[in-house]
Amino acid sequence: MIATRVEATAKLTGRATFAADHRPEGVLHAVLVGAPVAAGTLRGVDADAARALPGVTAVLTAADLPDFPRLDMPAAVLTLPFTDDRIPHEGWPVAIVLGESIEAAEAARAVVRVDCAAEPPVLLGSGERTPAMGEDAVVFTKGDVDAARAQAAVRVEQTYVQAARHHNTMETSGTVARWDGDRLTLWDAVQAGSTVIPVVSKAFGIDAANVRVVSPHTGGGFGGKGYIWPHEVLAAAAARVAGRPVKLHLRRADQFSAVGYQPWMEQTIRLAADAEGRLLGVEHAAVNNAGLVETHVEPATEASKSLYASPAIRLRLEIERVSLNVPTPMRAPVEGPGLWALESAMNELADEAGIDPLDLRLANFAEVSPADGRPWSSNRLREAYAEGARRYGWRNRHQRPRQDGHWRIGHGMATCSMGSFRFPGAARVHLGADGSAVVESNVHDIGSGAQTVLAQIAAEELGVPLDRVAVRWGDTDLPRTGPTYGSSTTMGTGSAVASAARDVGKQLADLGIEADAMAAAGVDEIVGEGTYELPDGAMFNGDGEGTPYAMRTWGVIFVEVGVDPDFGILRLRRAVGVYSAGRIVNALTARAQMIGAIVWGWGKATMEESDQEPVHGRWLAKNLSNVAVPVNADIPADIDVSFVEEFDEAASLIGARGIGELGATGVDAAVAAAVHDAVGVRVREVPILPWKVLAG
Ligand code: MOS
Repeated sequence: MIATRVEATAKLTGRATFAADHRPEGVLHAVLVGAPVAAGTLRGVDADAARALPGVTAVLTAADLPDFPRLDMPAAVLTLPFTDDRIPHEGWPVAIVLGESIEAAEAARAVVRVDCAAEPPVLLGSGERTPAMGEDAVVFTKGDVDAARAQAAVRVEQTYVQAARHHNTMETSGTVARWDGDRLTLWDAVQAGSTVIPVVSKAFGIDAANVRVVSPHTGGGFGGKGYIWPHEVLAAAAARVAGRPVKLHLRRADQFSAVGYQPWMEQTIRLAADAEGRLLGVEHAAVNNAGLVETHVEPATEASKSLYASPAIRLRLEIERVSLNVPTPMRAPVEGPGLWALESAMNELADEAGIDPLDLRLANFAEVSPADGRPWSSNRLREAYAEGARRYGWRNRHQRPRQDGHWRIGHGMATCSMGSFRFPGAARVHLGADGSAVVESNVHDIGSGAQTVLAQIAAEELGVPLDRVAVRWGDTDLPRTGPTYGSSTTMGTGSAVASAARDVGKQLADLGIEADAMAAAGVDEIVGEGTYELPDGAMFNGDGEGTPYAMRTWGVIFVEVGVDPDFGILRLRRAVGVYSAGRIVNALTARAQMIGAIVWGWGKATMEESDQEPVHGRWLAKNLSNVAVPVNADIPADIDVSFVEEFDEAASLIGARGIGELGATGVDAAVAAAVHDAVGVRVREVPILPWKVLAG
């Protein structure tokens, strides 16, 4: 089915409300004052001049704020600001200015003097490396990779680097907090409102039942609003101290250090194969940067555990601690970084072995899960390869002209893959006697079309027209469902909606009436409840754990890239992506998700980079003018996205797995391969900036 966004008109006409659009009576505006140095100790905050400015009501420092306990996940920062004098990174909050207007608060922020004993910051690439989890860096091992290397006919051993990059959502993160006695309401820009409650209730030692989180439209997430960040707690703390509601909407500059980003990563892949390219051993070692105190592990090695058949696999994960804020998942997490390395190495292996990269993938197709031998719930990757190659003209690619004017033309491909992140879901569906329906679930729509898809599922199950279905979302008073991340929403909450709609149908059947006979039978409304549960009541399931099946999503990306040999500039000329991800509920929103993901992947491959300034240790860019991301002129019209026909009944009631992040995987490796195909230069560090092409 194809349906346009149910929220499109509200967004296009400016009527859609976001967290910061809420202005409770008496609201104060808060601005964070960050540490001016990246490392050291806070000696004092002089806010006298700031407090004297008109419209400034308070400048809060540690002495004014509660003693916060150490928090638990899903808080991204477990040791909150204002609990320690140590400065872990530049921008670490050391004061909160409160003003009657945002202008007054901003003006005051500029004159707060922060006194620090500065120390040299720890820079990316020079921090201490430790195992990411437990005592040992080895997180998975199967077979004997060393023996495999010894007997291999072809070997690849290379290191691949990716720059840190920020989410840069259009709507910055922000929270409006209001206390009514012991009850706290947060209007919050989030991807998982339900998970804010345990974090905030622990921070203040209050009953979870006293916290409500309202999250209307969310202006982009990409993972940046997935976990709970300090400003959400600090907004509530400031509101409690001030005795008035407080709005703490992060400034664009604060967005670089007060929330997360995708970590800098260095990954080494060792592949050993026989003369036909069949893998004998895969070794994958990944390092991601973390904060000095706070930890984020990017388990990029999952890619090598799950994608190709190999008798021997060894995976190592480490973190490197540096003077930066803690990173967080970012579209596409886990396999996004992992496939940059693995798929680049596979393309190099293909060249070493003299095998077409597509044939190399086919020769190593995993009939069952390489990790544990479980069968796949559903896997149509081979069909995706075939369809993608047909649409792209892959087999005949080099019969086309290799040059277009001064542009050298190259072709590259990569496999795409993600785990199948599943979370429990719940929904309620109301069917009225007038034929209208309402879906209720505390889901969020970060721009992916979630509301549209949920309305569609209810409409289909109930047999009512789509325009008679309303969706109520983004409020913790509604049924608690899974988060809007991990490409999990349609599968989990969608199944719960389908189940709630079927409950309505069952109640109608029990009454012995059809939906259109409700009024005549004196029934005003029927309310159905539905859930989506995981094996053993688990709260998370990444790979079909607890089921007889391994669950993942797959696809293939082919790209044609033009390279300017004089300037090293790259142009995306066309792309073909074909995906195996279960049933596609809405062909229009799904296609938009994957086009967006390929554009996102092009940005990662060729543009996006957040650098740590090498003297001061802070982020170099702190506004969007210094952030290169693809714009319309960078993207060709010829992006061809399709899905293989599939229904995965093991993954969800509605046959769907997940799609959003899948399309962002593999693009970087395909682009690097195309650059090599065009000009013979192998770049192993993204973004592939012009100087790297010229240096090769
Ligand atoms: Mo995505 S990083 O799971 O929002």
